[in-house]
Amino acid sequence: MKEKIIALLEEISNLRATHADEIESLRLKFLSKKGEISTLFNDFRNVSNEEKREVGQLLNDLKNKAQEKINNLKEQLSSESANDEKLDLTRTAEPIAIGTRHPLSLVKNEIIDIFSRIGFTIAEGPEIEDDWHVFSALNFPPEHPARDMQDTFFIEQNPDIVLRTHTSSVQIRVMNKQKPPIRMLFPGRVYRNEAISYRAHCFFHQVEGLYIDKDVSFAELKQALMYFAKEMFGESTKIRLRPSYFPFTEPSAEMDISCNLCGGKGCAFCKYTGWVEILGCGMVDPNVLENCGIDSKVYSGYAFGMGVERITNLKYQVKDLRMFSENDVRFLDQFKSAY
Ligand code: DAH
Repeated sequence: MKEKIIALLEEISNLRATHADEIESLRLKFLSKKGEISTLFNDFRNVSNEEKREVGQLLNDLKNKAQEKINNLKEQLSSESANDEKLDLTRTAEPIAIGTRHPLSLVKNEIIDIFSRIGFTIAEGPEIEDDWHVFSALNFPPEHPARDMQDTFFIEQNPDIVLRTHTSSVQIRVMNKQKPPIRMLFPGRVYRNEAISYRAHCFFHQVEGLYIDKDVSFAELKQALMYFAKEMFGESTKIRLRPSYFPFTEPSAEMDISCNLCGGKGCAFCKYTGWVEILGCGMVDPNVLENCGIDSKVYSGYAFGMGVERITNLKYQVKDLRMFSENDVRFLDQFKSAY
C-alpha cells in the first residue's frame, strides 16, 4: 500500500492539463467517490495496526496534494485563457497620444537657441523678489509709476517683497555675483496686477538679455537684435529702433520689426503702419552697473527685454492671451516643432 501511495504522489505531482475537460477527468480519476484515492481509503481497513499511523498520514497527505494539484491546474488554465483574450496579436496597435510642448516653451526655447548661437548663456532668478532687485537697483526713482499698486503684486502687506514685474531683476542678481564679461539671457515668468482679458493677463513671460564688457557699443546691440529678428521672423525682416525711456537703460529704445504678416505693406494686424513693436532695449545705465559693484568707467553694456507671449502672437497669431493658460488640448495640439 505504501508503494502504491508513493507512486500516486509521483504521478499527481507530474499531472498536466490543457483543457477544463482534462482536469475534470483527472479529478474524477483521483478524487471522486470511486476514484483511486477513495479506493485506497477503503483498503486502509486492511492495513496492520503497526502501520496504520504511518500509512494514514501518507494517505491524508496524498489526498491534500491531489486536491491542491487539481486546484492549481484550474487556476493556471483560467489565467492563461484570460491572457489569451487580452493578447490579440493581429490587432492594430493603439495609437499613443504624444504630448506637445507648450507654444510659449517652444518660442522661449527658440529665442534661447538663437541667442545661444552668438554666445549667450542662461540664468534664472526668483519670482518672489525684493524692491531692491526689481526696482531700486534698476534705477527706478522712488515715485516711479511702475511701483504703483496698480502694476505690482505685493506680498503680505510688506511693500518690500513683490512678485517680480519683469525679469530685469535677474540682471541685478547676476551682476552682483559675477564679474564681466557677462553675456546672458534671463527667461522667466513675471506678474502684473492687471485685469485679465484677451490682451492682458496677471502673469506672462519674458526673456531678458544682458551683455556687459569693455567698450560695448549701441551698434553691437543693434546688430544682435537685427540678427535675432531675422532668425526669428525670416531673412527679409527689417528692424527699426525708436527712442524710448526705461530707468535702467540710457539711451533706451523700443524695437519694431516690419510686420511679418503683410511684409511691411500695412494690414489690420499692424494697424496699417507696416511695423509691430517687439521689445525694449538700451545701453545699461551706469547707475545700474555701480549699484552692482561694476566700475562704469571700465565697463559698459546693453540690455533688452521681450515678452514671450508677444513674440508667440506675432509668430502664430494667437488672438486671445488667455488661451496660453487654459490648457485646452485642441489649442496646444496645434503646436509641433523641433524646439
Ligand atoms: N523690463 C522691461 C519691461 O518689463 C523690458 C525691458 C526694456 C528690458 C528695456 C530691458 C530693456 O532690458 O533694456 O517692460
